[in-house]
Amino acid sequence: MRDLKSQYICSQCGRLENKWLGRCPDCGSWNSFVEEIVKKGSSTLVRDTNKSQVVTLSEVKIDNNFRYTSEISEFDRVLGGGIMRGATVLLGGEPGIGKSTLMLQLLGSLKNLKLLYISGEESPSQVRLRAERIQIDLNSISLFTDSRLQQIEELLRREKFDVVVVDSLQTLYSEEIPSPAGSVNQMRMCAMELVSLAKREGFALFFVGHITKEGQIAGPKAIEHIVDTVLYFEQAEGGVRIVRAVKNRYGSVDEIGIFLMEERGLLSVKDPGGFFVSKRESSFLPPGIAFSVVVEGSRTFMVEIQALAVPTKGGYPRLYSERIESSRVMRVAAVLERHAKINLLDKDLYVNVAGGITLKEVAIELPLALALYSAISSKALDSKLVSIGELSLAGEVRPVSYTDKRVKGALEMGFTTIVGNQNLKGNFKEANFVTCRTIKEAVDIVRNPN
Ligand code: TYD
Ligand code: MG
Repeated sequence: MRDLKSQYICSQCGRLENKWLGRCPDCGSWNSFVEEIVKKGSSTLVRDTNKSQVVTLSEVKIDNNFRYTSEISEFDRVLGGGIMRGATVLLGGEPGIGKSTLMLQLLGSLKNLKLLYISGEESPSQVRLRAERIQIDLNSISLFTDSRLQQIEELLRREKFDVVVVDSLQTLYSEEIPSPAGSVNQMRMCAMELVSLAKREGFALFFVGHITKEGQIAGPKAIEHIVDTVLYFEQAEGGVRIVRAVKNRYGSVDEIGIFLMEERGLLSVKDPGGFFVSKRESSFLPPGIAFSVVVEGSRTFMVEIQALAVPTKGGYPRLYSERIESSRVMRVAAVLERHAKINLLDKDLYVNVAGGITLKEVAIELPLALALYSAISSKALDSKLVSIGELSLAGEVRPVSYTDKRVKGALEMGFTTIVGNQNLKGNFKEANFVTCRTIKEAVDIVRNPN
C-alpha cells in the first residue's frame, strides 16, 4: 500500500485537492468531495507510451475524411456536423430518458463502419430486443457485454473499431483501481484510460452517463473536462426530448437536437418552427400568454411564455418558474414594477413555457414582462403579436442578435405584429413593426393597441 496515496475529487466539477474540503472552491457545491486512492507520483493511471515530438504546423498532416455523418440529422447537428474521428463524447441524462435508444439508433444509422456497443447495464437479449424495436440492422453492430476495463481495452486493441459506445460510465470497472465499483474514482480513471486509447487508435468514443434531476449521482460531471463534447438530454413535455451541447470542441454549444420518443425510437424534429406553441382552435388568446422567437444554434422557433398571478397566500410573494431561471424572472418582474409601475408585491407568480422547453436567451425578457403584465391586468395580448427584446435594469428594451432570422421566423408562422427595439426593423414589408424604447412604452402599446 506504500505506493498509494489519497486525493479528493469534487464529484460535481472534477476539481482535485490533497485534503477533503466541505465546499468546492470552483463550483461551490457542498459535501461534494470524495476520496480517491491513486498511485504515488501520478494523479492518474494514464500511461502514454507514445514518443512526443515537435513539428512545425506545415508538417502537420490534415485528415480530410475526419467526420462520419449519421442519418440522424438532429444528432449530427448537436455534434457540430457529424462524428469526428477520435472524438470523445459524454451523453448524460436521467434514467429512462432515451440514452441507450439514441446510442443504438446512432450506431444503426452509420454505414460501412465497424461499430461496437458495450453494454454493462443490460443483457444481450435486452439490447437485441431494443435494436429490433427500433428496426436497425442487427448484423452491422458488435455487442460486448463486459464492463471490465482490461477486457474492453484488450478488445479495442485487437479489433479496430470506428465508433464505440460505452453504456454506461457508471458500470465501468478496473481491478487496478483500489476504489469500489461505481465510485467517482473508478468512473474517472476508466474514462481517462479509454479516452487516451480512443485518441491513439482513432475511434470515436461515446460514454453514456446517468444523472438524476437533483444531480445526486453526480459522476458524469467529473469527467466533463476529460471528453471533447458533453451532451445532456433534457426532457421537455410528453415525448419531446432535447439534446443540448454544453461543451463542444468541434462545434457550437448553442445547438440543440429536438426529438420525439415514438414507438420505434427517437424521431428527429426537423422543422421546429411552431412545434413549441400550443395549438388553439380560434384566434382567442387568454391573458397571461406572450409569444416570442428564439434562436438556438442554426434554428429559429416560436415559443409561448405563460404567466399566472394570484394573490399571495403565504404572507410574502412567491415565484414558481422551472423553464426560465427564477433569478431572471425576478429581475424582469422588478423592472416591470419599477419602470412600468405594475404592482407585483402582493402576487404569487407562476411562469411556464409551452412544450416544456427551457429558455436561456435574453430575447425572451420583453415577452416575459408582457406575459406577466397580461396576467396581472387580465388583459390578453393580440394573438398575432410577437415581442423580442432584452430588458436593462433601467427599463430599456435592448437590441438582440439575429433580428432578421427572428422576424422571418415569426412571419412564417403567421404572426403579423412585431414589438421590440427599433433594430428589429428590416426590409420586411409584410410586418407591422411597433418599436419601443422602454418597458413602459411596450406596456402602453399592449394596453392601448390602437
Ligand atoms: P432508454 O433508452 O432505455 O433510456 P435510458 O438509457 O436513458 O435509461 O429508453 C427508455 C424509455 O424509452 C422507456 O421508457 C421506453 C421508451 N421507448 C420508447 O418509447 N420507444 C422506443 O422505441 C424505445 C426503444 C424506448
Ligand atoms: Mg440505458
